[in-house]
Amino acid sequence: MSYKITLIEGDGIGPSLVEATVKVIEATGVDIQWEKQYAGEDCMGKTGTPLPEETLNSIKKNKIALKGPLTTPVGKGFRSVNVQIRQKLRLFANLRPALSFSGVPGAYNDIDLVIIRENTEGLYCGVDYWVDEDESAGISQNIITRKSSERIVRFAFQYAKNKGRKKVTAVHKANILKCSSGLFLRVASEVAKDYPDIQFEDRIVDNMAMQLVKRPQEYDVIVTTNLFGDILSDLCAGLIGGLGLAPSGNIGEGIAVFEPVHGSAPKYRGKNKANPCANILSGALMLDYLGEDQASKKIFKAVANVIKKGKDVTYDLKEDRNDPSAVGTKEIADAIVKEIRSMK
Ligand SMILES: NC(=O)c1ccc[n+]([C@@H]2O[C@H](COP(=O)([O-])OP(=O)(O)OC[C@H]3O[C@@H](n4cnc5c(N)ncnc54)[C@H](O)[C@@H]3O)[C@@H](O)[C@H]2O)c1
Repeated sequence: MSYKITLIEGDGIGPSLVEATVKVIEATGVDIQWEKQYAGEDCMGKTGTPLPEETLNSIKKNKIALKGPLTTPVGKGFRSVNVQIRQKLRLFANLRPALSFSGVPGAYNDIDLVIIRENTEGLYCGVDYWVDEDESAGISQNIITRKSSERIVRFAFQYAKNKGRKKVTAVHKANILKCSSGLFLRVASEVAKDYPDIQFEDRIVDNMAMQLVKRPQEYDVIVTTNLFGDILSDLCAGLIGGLGLAPSGNIGEGIAVFEPVHGSAPKYRGKNKANPCANILSGALMLDYLGEDQASKKIFKAVANVIKKGKDVTYDLKEDRNDPSAVGTKEIADAIVKEIRSMK
């Protein structure tokens, strides 16, 4: 089968990571025609908009995109393009697996969990404003609806069922945020009754953060609202060895965009230094979504093999981050390609 996929290189380290990812995906032999589009800070500089209509239309048409990270100006400037893409295309589920790779220094070696984050509302719904002209107080509204809560919790249970996972944990702050987080918990408990074969439990988010640091092996599928999911998934990335290993998928009704969890790390732009694995593994998640599960598994295995050998890995996967034997973005991608070719 042949696929047409929208490709967005992104900002900062994005173009080098996306180049590495395309090389690895092509090594699996899956037939893909890439449709290159633009978005982000560089795009804003060139075209006057960080998210051209043409880019959105391309994703709507192809129903699938792979992207690198995009820069969002902090505390000023345009709204996050990532958030805009998720909202405009109604990519309501953000899938963020945290999987241990053997050989990563300082990381747990037995984590295999997935965070499923509601992607379109909560504190990211865009109701964010100053109370007065002096900007002396700000308000951000945390909007949680029954409809979106039910949709994301059902997605989490269905995902658990399809992937043979055993437990879903709903994470909330219903003790304090009784209306918003309380509604999410109530809906989660109701939906859980439709899946009697899957264990259900809930955790308050602060406790969850501590539990994840101490006993991450006990968790399987975690479902939560937007901000909690954002923070906990970075925490889990830290537990498996860093953001360089954390992939993600944003999934809606018949449409999906895959990207690494991390940002554009502007300080490494053009330096052939950043780890492309999170972007490459996002490509593997995309292949799994397309039903190309053999190709997807090959990429996961090839990444695992390269990391385990520990020779051709980037600085962030070395015991000493200043280890001069660390390789660059291009070299680790070449090692992954070589592993894939050796599997044929
Ligand atoms: N999905 C996205 O596009 C996305 C996600 C998060 C942040 N951002 C944006 O990225 C920009 C930078 O944000 P930030 O600095 O908070 O987060 P960041 O993820 O870019 O960087 C955090 C830390 O992790 C390191 N890092 C990140 N990716 C790495 C990789 N692949 N290999 C090795 N090290 C890596 C960075 O050097 C930095 O020390 C901001 O504009 C932010 O809005 C975009």
